[in-house]
Amino acid sequence: MEIKRLKEKFVELYGGDESDLRVFSAAGRVNLIGEHIDYCGGKVFPAALNLRTVIVARKTGKKVINLTATTVNDRVTLEIDHLEKYKDLPWGDYQAGVAYVMQQEGYEIVGCDLLYDTTVPFGSGLSSSASIEVATAMAFSTFSKEAGVKDVDLVQLAVLSQRSENTYNGVNCGIMDQFASSLGKKDRAILLDCATLDYKYVPLELGDYEMVIANCNKKRSLQDSKYNERRGEVEEALALLKTRLPGKKNLAEFSVEEFDANCDVLKGKGKLYERAKHVVYECDRVNKSVKALEEGKILEFGELLNQSHYSLRDLYEVTGKELDALTKYSRAFDGCIGSRMTGAGFGGCTISLVKKDKVADFIKTVNAQYAEEIGYEATFYLTSVEDGARELK
Ligand code: GLA
Repeated sequence: MEIKRLKEKFVELYGGDESDLRVFSAAGRVNLIGEHIDYCGGKVFPAALNLRTVIVARKTGKKVINLTATTVNDRVTLEIDHLEKYKDLPWGDYQAGVAYVMQQEGYEIVGCDLLYDTTVPFGSGLSSSASIEVATAMAFSTFSKEAGVKDVDLVQLAVLSQRSENTYNGVNCGIMDQFASSLGKKDRAILLDCATLDYKYVPLELGDYEMVIANCNKKRSLQDSKYNERRGEVEEALALLKTRLPGKKNLAEFSVEEFDANCDVLKGKGKLYERAKHVVYECDRVNKSVKALEEGKILEFGELLNQSHYSLRDLYEVTGKELDALTKYSRAFDGCIGSRMTGAGFGGCTISLVKKDKVADFIKTVNAQYAEEIGYEATFYLTSVEDGARELK
């Protein structure tokens, strides 16, 4: 919804006038490459999108936070003195988590009325929840600062948001989504080292190509349990590999050569070899991708996207027939130079690099082939790479 219309809607819902309204925004994200790497302490390469969560906010100074959204009908009221009790809300639990965690960290949670508008499609793997958390954290931290309590930077916004999702909402995610949602930059991807939170921006110059994001529209069900299962497997793999190289703290620290020389300790242990191999080789692909992009070698970057998908399909096993079909037809299209799933997997989105003048044809052709095989269509989004969290003035 346009900001003007959102402000009018706010006044319809909460009364008053527009003079004291504030607007905060945080981004959904796409990950270009480096999948299932953040929780292994490696480098990831996401970018913030124009698909976003926008909050219109007004401080009330009361002991409650009122929440509503353009996409839900009810209004939720959170009591600031009892923020621990909202974990089971069907909607509003992410906001409550951010408020609770920030309060525990010594921020002043100021009473306010909030209206949410999210254009990140829910359950798409483009981090709608991270965008809600980060935008919320920005609103609360701004009000806390204005109350004279604690300042905050964009990195802390991401860390607090991840912590609230981990501890309040019980989702064991890494730092990538919240970091990109908060620190994204227009037309740049972020090379983020998840072990240190060091980062650098890399210009996303794709030459004659454009990044096309498509949702396979599969209903994701097993996602959380399988995600946690993979996290457990890579921890077990690390423990075994450390019997050889005890100095290593993270799986992502193993070079391809070190892994190949020591991977026999993983053989015969279920899928540990395959899982760890994905992680180590994917880290290598991230470095190669950044180099290829910096040198303008787009074709090479495209091929690395393909290799990443094959590894997520065959070694990490987080794709599924829908994401495999969508990327297969994408790759087969003349004018597409690379395609992979993005995000946690099991459903959600793909990214493909497609010749700019062939995008319309790509969408039509791939969608028809996909629907023919899977029985329903994919959704293609018009996206651009934008800044992360900010207050709109
Ligand atoms: C989800 C998690 C991220 C990351 C990706 C996989 O999006 O929230 O932390 O682990 O999956 O790369």
